[in-house]
Amino acid sequence: METVVVTHPIVQARLTVMRDERSSNAEFRAALRELATLLVYEATRELAVADVPVTTPVAPTTGTAIANPPLLVPVLRAGLGMAEAAFNLLPESQMGFVGLARDEQTHVPHPYMASLPASLAGRPVIVLDPMLATGGSLKHCLELLHERGATDVTVLCALAAPEGVQLIAESGLAGRLFVASVDERLNENAYIVPGLGDAGDRQFGPR
Ligand code: PRP
Ligand code: URA
Repeated sequence: METVVVTHPIVQARLTVMRDERSSNAEFRAALRELATLLVYEATRELAVADVPVTTPVAPTTGTAIANPPLLVPVLRAGLGMAEAAFNLLPESQMGFVGLARDEQTHVPHPYMASLPASLAGRPVIVLDPMLATGGSLKHCLELLHERGATDVTVLCALAAPEGVQLIAESGLAGRLFVASVDERLNENAYIVPGLGDAGDRQFGPR
């Protein structure tokens, strides 16, 4: 999987707010929302466009429209914190949902919902999940998308662990990853180190 680490200073500053254990739930959510906006901006540079006629108050000219708006797929719960930012930049998009919860003991994702169009052939897809740790959750999500014919998948994460990036690369599930940082490693609880803790809990409170 092609991996792009977005080193922009504003991205790194928002990530630092998210890492800080003193940040409140509200501060964490605001930083994630802004970081997601910047990741979407970076990841959509190559989106296909179409010429459209537009008339300004002065003269007719040719403008630009998004030719094939992507399907946005936040992975619940934590990806919900990126959904509004992505929708704001791509209001012509549609949204699907995947619900996964990692088992705290085995670290295996438990799927509890998938709400996706039956066919994704020919449609760009943008997956939103702040955390890529073991990679089990993202692998499951990519399998769901590929089963439906998706071939153009971009994944936006705040943080990844090398173990998760490697799992996805080895899975052969094509896609591009935009991430603010690939951290050092996973700890014995499969949390990213140094990481930011549990991205779902830090936004919404503990389950
Ligand atoms: C987090 C995160 C990812 C997953 C990553 O979700 O949002 O979906 O863990 O871990 P993995 O790469 O090891 O699979 P979690 O399962 O904690 O659920 P939540 O978003 O509801 O908190
Ligand atoms: N999920 C999280 O929210 N944080 C981690 O560090 C790993 C998985």
